[in-house]
Amino acid sequence: MNILITGAAGFIGSHMTYRLWKKGYHLILVDNFSYGHIENLVFDDHDFSEEVIRMDIRDKEGINYLMQNNKIDYIYNFAGIAALPECQAEPVEAIDVNVNGLVNILENARIYGVKKIIQASTNAIYENEKRFPTDENISELPTLIYPNTKYMAERFAESYCNTYGMSVSCLRFSNVYGPHVDCLRKQPPFVAYMIRELYYDRTPVFFSNGEQKRDYIYVDDLINLALAVLDSTGFDVVNVSGNECYSVNEMYQIAQEIMKKSIPASYAKDNQYWEKYGLYRGKYTIKQEILNHEINKYSLCDNSYAKNKYKWRPCVTMREGLKKMIEAQSVFLSQLGKKI
Ligand SMILES: NC(=O)c1ccc[n+]([C@@H]2O[C@H](COP(=O)([O-])OP(=O)(O)OC[C@H]3O[C@@H](n4cnc5c(N)ncnc54)[C@H](O)[C@@H]3O)[C@@H](O)[C@H]2O)c1
Repeated sequence: MNILITGAAGFIGSHMTYRLWKKGYHLILVDNFSYGHIENLVFDDHDFSEEVIRMDIRDKEGINYLMQNNKIDYIYNFAGIAALPECQAEPVEAIDVNVNGLVNILENARIYGVKKIIQASTNAIYENEKRFPTDENISELPTLIYPNTKYMAERFAESYCNTYGMSVSCLRFSNVYGPHVDCLRKQPPFVAYMIRELYYDRTPVFFSNGEQKRDYIYVDDLINLALAVLDSTGFDVVNVSGNECYSVNEMYQIAQEIMKKSIPASYAKDNQYWEKYGLYRGKYTIKQEILNHEINKYSLCDNSYAKNKYKWRPCVTMREGLKKMIEAQSVFLSQLGKKI
């Protein structure tokens, strides 16, 4: 059985790679290394760094060549631009990668008869929802660029399923955390940032009052569901959530307890964060109420569909998950040889 994983060197893609390899599948790994790290593909018992193909999912000839020359049965499309302010600042690139990239995969999957595609989607699609916990039925479409790219990607996946009888599961991940979250980025995802600052005994700056609550999913739990959906057919959309909410301040408290540190956080105005992406340049600038809504957004996704249909359960508690992530990130930072 041949499985193509895109975004394999990224956070979630590298975990998917390892788990599928452990199950004995033959893997074809693709990443363009716009992000991602080759080190994410080096594990104690196997080194995938020589196996990954440096390719862009938008590369029509490249993806066609790959699919023509490998009988690919399944695809995990985990390549994508995930940072919300980055998508806002670079909308053409974000739409190109997140939408056209998937369509390139879908079109070649159609031609070469791929059995199933699993697409990385997001609970950011529920940006404007007011029903909590939020099930998979969308009643309010999103506003910002990132969730719209993922929503559009889902629509094209559905179009291919309805038109050609193909099978795609779109997994709407809540905020994912675990080892391999990229803590080297200038603006790392929040959990990796907070651990990094604590590791270096620095005061983290939160661009909010830290009270906004979101739901999370530990990466191993996510992978369990990504494996469980492999053989379902048709078009499917599935929430992937631990179904519990934590505020930034609560998570910071747990991280401090685990790391045995006590460093009060500092708080700054939300627009200072978005300013770094140039969103206040130009004639029209981002509306403050949109920004406030995004920063203070509450999220809680209903995971009962995944539980009922796929007999899946999230197993890792926030404290356990954070502990594993802290251990892995501390080892990574200690081996880096330089302070970042
Ligand atoms: N991490 C989260 O909390 C989260 C939540 C919801 C959805 N997602 C989605 O899950 C997917 C994986 O996210 P992640 O957190 O692992 O991100 P990541 O940035 O760690 O990994 C993404 C990988 O995709 C690669 N990539 C980007 N553009 C590419 C392209 N055009 N061609 C080939 N490779 C490309 C990057 O180099 C990187 O290695 C993304 O699609 C993201 O939108 C992530």
